[in-house]
Formats: sequence, C-alpha cells, structure tokens
Amino acid sequence: MTGIGTPVPRLLFLLLISLLPAVSSKEPCVPSVIAKRSFTSIPVGGALSLNCSVIHCGPGSWSGEWGRSDLDNFSPLNLSDDRVQVTVIPVRETQTTLQLTIQNIMYNDSGEYQCRVIGTELNISNMGHKTNVTVTGKEQAY
Ligand SMILES: *[C@@H]1O[C@H](CO)[C@@H](O)[C@H](O)[C@H]1NC(C)=O
Ligand SMILES: *[C@@H]1O[C@H](CO)[C@@H](O)[C@H](O)[C@H]1NC(C)=O
Ligand SMILES: *[C@@H]1O[C@H](CO)[C@@H](O)[C@H](O)[C@H]1NC(C)=O
Ligand SMILES: *[C@@H]1O[C@H](CO)[C@@H](O)[C@H](O)[C@H]1NC(C)=O
Ligand SMILES: *[C@@H]1O[C@H](CO)[C@@H](O)[C@H](O)[C@H]1NC(C)=O
Repeated sequence: MTGIGTPVPRLLFLLLISLLPAVSSKEPCVPSVIAKRSFTSIPVGGALSLNCSVIHCGPGSWSGEWGRSDLDNFSPLNLSDDRVQVTVIPVRETQTTLQLTIQNIMYNDSGEYQCRVIGTELNISNMGHKTNVTVTGKEQAY
C-alpha cells in the first residue's frame, strides 16, 4: 500500500504500455491506387497501355487487377485472351505498377477501364480512377 501510486493507476499504466505498441503495429493496411481520371483514344488494331500505381504494405498484403467498368459494374479482364496482358512492375517495397496492355485493339474494346486493389488482411477493395478508352477508325488516327 505504500508503493508508487495506487493499484488502479498502475494497472492503467500497464494496460496502456501493453496496448499502445500492439495498436500501432496492427494498424490495418488498406492498399490504395494513384491514377488520374483520363481519356485516351486508340486506332483500331493499335495497342492500349495503361498504368495503375498501387501503394500497398509490402508483398503478400494485396492483390490487384484490371477490369472494365462500364455502367459502373466492375468486371475483371479476361487474361486468357492472348491480346490482354497485365505486367507487375515493382517500384519500391510498398509501391507497384500494374501495367495493362491490350494488343490489336478492336472497336468493342472501347469503354471505361479501371484497376482494383484488394487488401488481403481486411479484404477491403479500392478502385483506381477510370480511363475512358475510345477506339477510332484507322483513317481517323492522326
Ligand atoms: C507504365 O509504367 C512503365 C514502367 O514505369 C513505363 O515504362 C511505361 O511507359 C508506363 N506507361 C504509361 C502508358 O504510362
Ligand atoms: C476468356 O477468353 C478465353 C479465350 O479467348 C475464352 O475461351 C473464355 O471463355 C473467356 N472467359 C470468359 C469468362 O469470358
Ligand atoms: C469483340 O468483338 C470480337 C470480334 O468480333 C469478338 O470475338 C469478341 O467476343 C467481342 N468482345 C466482346 C466483349 O463483345
Ligand atoms: C472478400 O470480399 C468479397 C466481397 O465482399 C467476397 O465476395 C469474398 O468472398 C471475400 N473474400 C474473402 C477471402 O473473405
Ligand atoms: C467516354 O468518351 C466517349 C467519347 O468521347 C463519350 O461519348 C462517353 O460519354 C465517355 N464516357 C464517359 C463515362 O465519360
């Protein structure tokens, strides 16, 4: 009963020092996307290349994909299509570029493109800004 402080404050103090580091190191990690809303036009038969810059919390903490978002319905691109490729380019420990390339563009490739990242820890997804892609006739290109 004569020590430093009464039992209640000491208990609080111990609780605080044991909770604080745990709270800060377990801060949930939600990846985000840096991408400006943009617009691009591609002549039919040409190649589309779009980048999505993902800020994340290191390898294994996220997953990402490119998709079409026409009418605000996100649907992932079909990577079995030989024309479609998504390349993962590491930038730094916590930043990665997802580069979408579509070769031999067809008219029906016109639309809204968007990337989506998912934080695997909390299973929360984040969308990049949309890019409005218009496919033009060959003669219209330049
Ligand atoms: C996408 O990023 C890659 C790697 O940084 C770069 O080489 C390429 O030019 C970029 N493409 C576009 C369309 O910005
Ligand atoms: C994806 O593309 C492949 C090859 O073109 C095709 O066989 C498959 O049915 C497509 N899948 C979907 C979900 O559209
Ligand atoms: C786009 O057109 C091509 C060629 O006509 C066809 O094979 C493909 O299934 C079409 N894709 C979509 C998403 O409608
Ligand atoms: C993540 O969330 C999506 C959408 O809410 C759900 O469909 C999916 O099953 C979840 N995945 C996991 C691994 O919990
Ligand atoms: C995308 O661009 C086309 C061509 O300018 C336009 O007609 C269409 O409304 C645009 N879509 C959106 C959602 O902005």
